[in-house]
Amino acid sequence: MSDWLHDPDGFAAMMPEGFEVGVSTAAFQIEGAVREDGRGPSTWDTFMAEPGRILDGSDASVATDHYHRYPEDVALMRELGVDSYRFSLAWPRIQPEGSGPRNKAGIAFYDRLLDELLAAGIRPMATLFHWDMPEPLQHKGGWMTRDTAPRFADFAAIAGEAFGDRIDKWVTINEPATVTLYGYGLGIHAPGATLMFDALLAGHHQLLGHGLAVQALRSVGVSGGIGITNVHSPVEPATNNFAAKQYAKVFDLVHNRIYADPVLLGQYPKFPFLARKEFRALTEVNADDLKIISQPLDFYGLNYYMPHRVAAGTPTDNATPDGVSANGMEDLPFHLAEWPEFESTGFGWPIAPEYFGVMLREFAELYSEKAPPLYITEGGASFNDVVAPDGTIDDSDRVNYLADHMAEAFTGASGIDVRGYYVWTLMDNWEWASGFGERFGLVHVDFATQKRTPKTSFRWLQKVLSARA
Ligand code: BGC
Repeated sequence: MSDWLHDPDGFAAMMPEGFEVGVSTAAFQIEGAVREDGRGPSTWDTFMAEPGRILDGSDASVATDHYHRYPEDVALMRELGVDSYRFSLAWPRIQPEGSGPRNKAGIAFYDRLLDELLAAGIRPMATLFHWDMPEPLQHKGGWMTRDTAPRFADFAAIAGEAFGDRIDKWVTINEPATVTLYGYGLGIHAPGATLMFDALLAGHHQLLGHGLAVQALRSVGVSGGIGITNVHSPVEPATNNFAAKQYAKVFDLVHNRIYADPVLLGQYPKFPFLARKEFRALTEVNADDLKIISQPLDFYGLNYYMPHRVAAGTPTDNATPDGVSANGMEDLPFHLAEWPEFESTGFGWPIAPEYFGVMLREFAELYSEKAPPLYITEGGASFNDVVAPDGTIDDSDRVNYLADHMAEAFTGASGIDVRGYYVWTLMDNWEWASGFGERFGLVHVDFATQKRTPKTSFRWLQKVLSARA
């Protein structure tokens, strides 16, 4: 990319008027304070305590200590100049048992956070489920149990009653695809189940929970808009042979379409005959469920990180894109192929902004008539950021990543209404099964001292945002 694009003034001038820029986080990755003020245990508390689950053996019991340092973090966002902040409400903090009474101290924390955000002129976008399920519900099967969907709607109503006057946008569920694939299919995220294709029912129950939560939020009269977020990835076959093309189709279904189609079109996509057994659970669902799942939405949230390339043949090892091994991968008849033509992030993910454009165009083709406005609710990259002797952190590679991807959101897709882009993430955090090993932040965090230091990418975005006026 040429320099004028990355030059903050030139970049700001390209941004459509009213385009919303925000930063995104998730409760469990930043809050810490897992045993404070009546918070109940979550599936991730249990999972991270099991030996061998987290790559660096760390846990998120302190994380970035955001629970206590939120005023400093909001001050950083104000300095950055973002329009909006996407964060998640921890279900076990607000309703520790996952059903029954609410926890006043948990609600009070988010009241304080919301007050701080509004005083800083930052519009709050809140996610109801970013993966930290109350452990008592997991004992009953978690998302494999249909009854978790109405429990989630009850939680949505509690949150709606408590915060509905101040939250600008609600995201019901973050990335049901990741929860299904990593949490219930491959077992590399909580709750660590290895159900392979049988996990797809957990996906359906999340969508049902989403639909019921939308109804619950509307019935308590929240003033903000309501949507869902999924992670989309364009999928291509590694070769032109029949098998690679079929498996690429299957991967596209399990990653993208079995979530977006029911929500936006009110139906599951057609499943390939060769994989009919794998998708059976989804062909037998109740038609009334699909009516609930396809509630009209005010926006659709889309996370984009990378494309996927699928090749026929069993994987040579059990490694997943997150660097964690998953038993069971060796039973799959396909594997994810490399992208040698692209540079990669710290995680080894291909840096391919043009595929973000491909994805937006595919999305437009499939859904533009039915889809509400789109927000890119996450996008960003981990890099091996180095603190220089003078204390600065030059992450120009992240500036490039963000500039190239944000520009694609403005200009890459004709016929689709992209209203905003939320950078993942405000500050380095606890990156799930990778622990503290992958840094995605605009702000560097020294995990020993909790010192926050804005990186070059923070300063770049700050200049872009101030140049907009
Ligand atoms: C998740 C984040 C995560 C990020 C980077 C997204 O799938 O929503 O919680 O940290 O990817 O892996």
